[in-house]
Amino acid sequence: MSKTTRTALVTGGNTGLGAAIARALHDAGHKVIIAHIPGHETVAHWLQQQAEIGYNFTAYGVDVSDFDSTQALAQAIHADGHQVDILVNNAGITRDATLRKMEKSGWDAVLRTNLDSVFNVTKVFLDPMLERGWGRIVNISSINGSKGQFGQTNYSAAKAGMHGFTKALAQEVARKGITVNTVSPGYLRTEMVAAMREDVLNQIVAGIPVGRLGDPTEIAALVAFISSDSAAFMTGSNIAMNGGQHMF
Ligand code: CAA
Repeated sequence: MSKTTRTALVTGGNTGLGAAIARALHDAGHKVIIAHIPGHETVAHWLQQQAEIGYNFTAYGVDVSDFDSTQALAQAIHADGHQVDILVNNAGITRDATLRKMEKSGWDAVLRTNLDSVFNVTKVFLDPMLERGWGRIVNISSINGSKGQFGQTNYSAAKAGMHGFTKALAQEVARKGITVNTVSPGYLRTEMVAAMREDVLNQIVAGIPVGRLGDPTEIAALVAFISSDSAAFMTGSNIAMNGGQHMF
């Protein structure tokens, strides 16, 4: 894997999969900026803990569902002298419910945070990547964007939409040194999965051929590769890593 040092931005980079991705990109020699929910009171403590184990991250608060907020993020990052070469659109939420029980607010929150965010954040960092002629955009989708999931019409729709965005933008920037890819993880050992109903989760794990949840570091290693110079021929792809739960 190439060792050229770049600057990476990971949205939702202070928790779960995002934190594992931030550490993997740091391990690959990159400068890593994490974007977190504004006013997240635990972030300072988390940054301190990461620094103690050798991970020096720069952090900014942003509401990825709000275009004005992502514009302000880009202004702040550029004003501080950073340029974003690698963008990982990882921030996401769940509001699981069957469609019959789903409130309009649960639909809107998931579509705005998981899908509008991909437009909002990518839009504000794309032009500088085009000017420099190099970029990596990785959209973190989900197994459930491909296979659907009982209780997740909102999440499955948003995650499927992310890959449509990936395929369209990949074509637009392919000749400009920028790759755009989707990564679709299966069920991982994260807080998001731990919040599921235990009986439902046990049933899902029983259907995973490798017989266990994934570890966030396994997905993070894949993201680090896609973000490298070595992955220049990979674009518009949807790479699944789900323990064999869904094969396509
Ligand atoms: N397939 C078919 N029928 C099912 C079912 C399934 N998978 N699961 C439940 N049902 C049935 C029940 O047997 C019950 O039937 P009856 O009414 O005939 O008894 C009915 O559906 C229950 O319907 P409810 O609307 O009452 O559903 P609920 O409130 O009990 O549960 C839910 C809804 C909490 C959303 C639950 O379905 C659930 O947890 N689903 C899993 C959601 C999930 O996978 N979330 C992943 C979160 S992590 C993540 O998203 C990360 C990632 O990318 C993987």
